[in-house]
Amino acid sequence: MTPVASSHARSPRPPPPAAVLYGVANRSNPVVSDARRIADIVHEPPLWLRSIVPADEPALQRLFSRLTPTEIRRRFLYSLGSLPTEMARRLCAPDGQLEQALVIADSAQPGQRELHGVGRMYMDEHTLSAEFALLVERNHTGLGLGRRLLLALMATARTRGMRELWSHVAHDNIPMLRLARSMGGEQQPVDGDPGVVRVRIALSE
Ligand SMILES: CC(C)(COP(=O)(O)OP(=O)(O)OC[C@H]1O[C@@H](n2cnc3c(N)ncnc32)[C@H](O)[C@@H]1OP(=O)(O)O)[C@@H](O)C(=O)NCCC(=O)NCCS
Repeated sequence: MTPVASSHARSPRPPPPAAVLYGVANRSNPVVSDARRIADIVHEPPLWLRSIVPADEPALQRLFSRLTPTEIRRRFLYSLGSLPTEMARRLCAPDGQLEQALVIADSAQPGQRELHGVGRMYMDEHTLSAEFALLVERNHTGLGLGRRLLLALMATARTRGMRELWSHVAHDNIPMLRLARSMGGEQQPVDGDPGVVRVRIALSE
């Protein structure tokens, strides 16, 4: 059988469309209803902040594949060579109640283009605290996107009666520690784990 690569090399046909190349088969996904353009960030194409939806799974996989081992370790606090399909599916389908996830995307419509950041939280109605995690891919850092994601999570958590957001953060993760501090976050040691600190951001009324 002719290898795919060599048949492409000899073919006069144009390359397949981006949607096929990137595994985006379905172009009929509707715009996510809460999508809003991030107007204060100068970026081309414009960026959107919206909830994650199941149709984001291929783009989430591509985002993961662009991360460095350090970014992965900082986000998940362990090493992960690839994002297992089941995990990606679950990450793209939060329950929308206790679990919320937002993305920074090139498009208000899922299944199109790329994701550049994800913010996620799990709300605990007993402790009235929400565990959060952020990720912004490195060629989009320093634009204020991490702060936008965190502010959006804080706003939602507040409306749901949460009193604080918290996260375990690697002790040497200076960008995240500074971001949290700039939002009023405090650091506490974690018993038995000197490699991480607990960051706590109190939510005012
Ligand atoms: C941490 C992370 C989310 C920051 O995202 P970001 O989009 O670059 O953050 P912002 O541009 O909104 O920056 C907000 C603040 O964070 C801090 N910050 C961001 N990048 C920084 C850097 N490289 N060095 C020092 N401080 C930094 C600053 O306080 C900054 O405020 P300033 O711009 O007024 O100085 C991003 O670097 C990331 O995803 N890292 C890998 C995964 C990770 O560490 N996740 C956190 C686990 S909870």
